[in-house]
Amino acid sequence: MKTKVTKAILPVAGLGTRFLPATKVMPKEMLPVVDKPVIQYLVEDVVAAGIKEIIFITGREKRTIEDHFDIAPGLERTLQEKGKPEQAELIRSISNLAEFSYIRQKEARGDGHALLQARRLIGDEPVLVVFGDCLYDSDVSTCKQLLDSYEKFQAPIVGLTEVSRSEVSKFGVIDGLKIDEKHWEIKNFVEKPSSERAPSNIVAPGKYIITPAVFDVLDELNKKYSGDELRLASAFETMLKRGDKIYGRMLEGQWLDTGDKFSFLKANIHMGLKHPDIATKLKDYLKSIL
Ligand code: UTP
Repeated sequence: MKTKVTKAILPVAGLGTRFLPATKVMPKEMLPVVDKPVIQYLVEDVVAAGIKEIIFITGREKRTIEDHFDIAPGLERTLQEKGKPEQAELIRSISNLAEFSYIRQKEARGDGHALLQARRLIGDEPVLVVFGDCLYDSDVSTCKQLLDSYEKFQAPIVGLTEVSRSEVSKFGVIDGLKIDEKHWEIKNFVEKPSSERAPSNIVAPGKYIITPAVFDVLDELNKKYSGDELRLASAFETMLKRGDKIYGRMLEGQWLDTGDKFSFLKANIHMGLKHPDIATKLKDYLKSIL
């Protein structure tokens, strides 16, 4: 197996039901945080880790994602004619961020099923996986943090973050042994436990490095498909049961979940308070209404 990570998969074929009706025809990944779609922040974080090959798993109603990362000659020309060359350059630069490929998941049968669609584009190598709502504001790219941990352990890595006890029931929670300040050896995954039954308050927000062994397990689980969603977490559970090693990396930075309405609004306020064009006005506005 090759040991270097050179590719990232971004599964973006989910239905985004927590955001309906906004996501009826618009992918939740294209919702803007201030002035940039969430998906562009995610791609920039991948690219900042030195990864230049990005594979999107898309579905119906997701074409705007492809368009966003393509060139837009008409818009660029118009911006040039209107004397806005910087904006034309900004638009062009998005298509140059990385090499993009697209594969369709015909039915939204779960994030694990989505990942399997990309298997034929991945060789015998580890790959980064970034879920479409897992935004971070961090000094060091979160994907770079995962790559550093992969170098150390040469095994699947799960990005981790802490949440308050009252919130654990919304997430996949881990049970494990702490190795050092940043790392855990994961022993178990518990999906959406009640706060009393949760083994910890450490959850997986949606960034991973997976190995060919994870794809093999997903493949096996998919063969037994019973109608439920096939989840990446289920592959991890199977692997842990048979004794495979999986490690967790506490991600440094501010996690800005953009998958549900309230967290999405918080993400906009967090990034708005840092945006040079609106920070002061937003601060004044927030003060005035509190
Ligand atoms: P989520 O669990 O956030 O699901 O998926 P979702 O459909 O996007 O949103 P809700 O829960 O209905 O509101 C985690 C990631 O996996 C992708 C999603 O696009 C997201 O990036 N995914 C999920 C797929 O690509 N295909 C699927 O069948 C399910």
